[in-house]
Amino acid sequence: MGERLEIDSSDVIRLILQFLKENSLHRTFQTLQEESRVAYNTVESVDQFLADVNQGKWGEVLQTAAGMNLPEEVLQNLYEHIVCEMLEAKEPEVARQLLRETAALQSLKLTHPDRFKKLDHLCNKGHVDSKEAYEGMTVEKRRAALGQDMVQNLQAAPPSRLLAIIGQAMKWQNHQGLLPPGMKFDLFRGMAATAKEEAEECASDIAKTIIFPTRSYPECAAFSPDGQHLVTGSVDGIVEVWDYLTGKLRTDLSYQAEDAFMVHDTAVVSLAFTRDAELLASGDQDGNLKVWKISTGKCLKKYTKIHQGGITSIVFSKDSSQLLTASFDNTARLHGLKSGKTLKEFRGHTSYVNCAIFTGDGTKIVTGSSDGRVKVWDAKTTDCLQTFAPPPPSHLNTENASPQINAVFLAPKSQDLIYVCTRAPTLHLMNLTGQVLKTLSSGKKEGGDFVCAAASRKGEWLYCCGEDNTLYCFSNSTGKLEHLAKVHEKDVIGLIAHPLHNLVATWGIDGKLHVLK
Ligand SMILES: *[C@@H]1O[C@H](CO)[C@@H](O)[C@H](O)[C@H]1NC(C)=O
Ligand SMILES: *[C@@H]1O[C@H](CO)[C@@H](O)[C@H](O)[C@H]1NC(C)=O
Repeated sequence: MGERLEIDSSDVIRLILQFLKENSLHRTFQTLQEESRVAYNTVESVDQFLADVNQGKWGEVLQTAAGMNLPEEVLQNLYEHIVCEMLEAKEPEVARQLLRETAALQSLKLTHPDRFKKLDHLCNKGHVDSKEAYEGMTVEKRRAALGQDMVQNLQAAPPSRLLAIIGQAMKWQNHQGLLPPGMKFDLFRGMAATAKEEAEECASDIAKTIIFPTRSYPECAAFSPDGQHLVTGSVDGIVEVWDYLTGKLRTDLSYQAEDAFMVHDTAVVSLAFTRDAELLASGDQDGNLKVWKISTGKCLKKYTKIHQGGITSIVFSKDSSQLLTASFDNTARLHGLKSGKTLKEFRGHTSYVNCAIFTGDGTKIVTGSSDGRVKVWDAKTTDCLQTFAPPPPSHLNTENASPQINAVFLAPKSQDLIYVCTRAPTLHLMNLTGQVLKTLSSGKKEGGDFVCAAASRKGEWLYCCGEDNTLYCFSNSTGKLEHLAKVHEKDVIGLIAHPLHNLVATWGIDGKLHVLK
């Protein structure tokens, strides 16, 4: 006989019944939101999820799995297993209910009638011994295997994807109101079904070019986290929302159709979205910042002179309650979104601060400066915890010259590893004490120093643009330069990667913005 099961069956059963009940009810938007949140949390606590699976907490597991974008086959395996466990725990009623009422097992009936028949037979028999139940494995092994299977699929659904689903759910709700009573509409899974992930490939061919009028070239650009919008901020103060597939202005945004653009009085030099892609922040050359609602083009907040120089970078905190800015005035600052007040200042760099980011857990801030230094700060106390300079390229061989830091960004999937782009033909992966973990180098000794850099969404590709107006594409796994292409005729300004697709955008003083795929 198999080992004794350690299930607190009353609890498990209550939760499963609750799950069944909820899932046969129509879903309101609140439910959708709830589910999305559950799914989102799951991504952040894979360990918890695995622990639930290993302990057979099927109520929790099913709740979470419902929002996990799992392939049908994996869901079928999961439900099949739970039916067996329920039978082993002498709960044939629950097992039968699962068999009859869950979509996964109903689909098993169609795709694998033999397996369904076997389950049906076991349910009728009313019990099972573990030898016939778990493919010859112990229940623990089988649980662990299922857990691994699910988690592998979980990691294939990045937070940005889940955010996009929430965004779509919101839009759907805007158009439809709440679901009509009695209607079954599984938006979450319906969307998930189309959410097959692209494999990451190096974007290398220009697919679209947006040409800006002379003297109004873009200074900054951003993709929205839901992947819908490409926004640019221009030297003439205009913020524009583009359809990056057609290269045309989005005219479904009524304010743009009416030429009522989001504007600043001077050059817009930085942009950032909230994670829900609802709000856009834009910073200008004079140290002013505005926050816009992207769907209406309305300015919700205006911060005047929050820096004594141009705002070089903006990011929202994860919960969107705060804005972190960096500036030519040698500081980075943290501002409350609601209060509109500047809450904190990070002072210590001796030149322009070109970028400021939060670490993954939000407890630290990392800045990069033209003084050649990266600094790590305690986000709460504003204490400077670390100061370091990436090693200069070996051919320079100068001790005192630390090339300026152009960009710092978190390595995808990591909480506290950073890529540091210096004015050198090298990009370094570093940890927060300044240890270099990896160096990507073009090998070009002169005239090819990097100006900007970005990582593909999963981090398999690293892109850098050089002062030779060339886009360099490195493979993370080999560390090698895999592709290069001259993309601009005059100085390159920036580079961003799309959050969902294999696309990057580059722009420059030549007034062109290229979308490459
Ligand atoms: C960075 O790496 C070094 C060497 O591996 C290690 O000693 C140090 O603790 C790491 N720092 C952080 C913050 O992870
Ligand atoms: C990138 O390469 C490093 C090893 O150099 C590896 O640890 C990391 O997981 C890779 N990242 C991705 C996203 O593949």
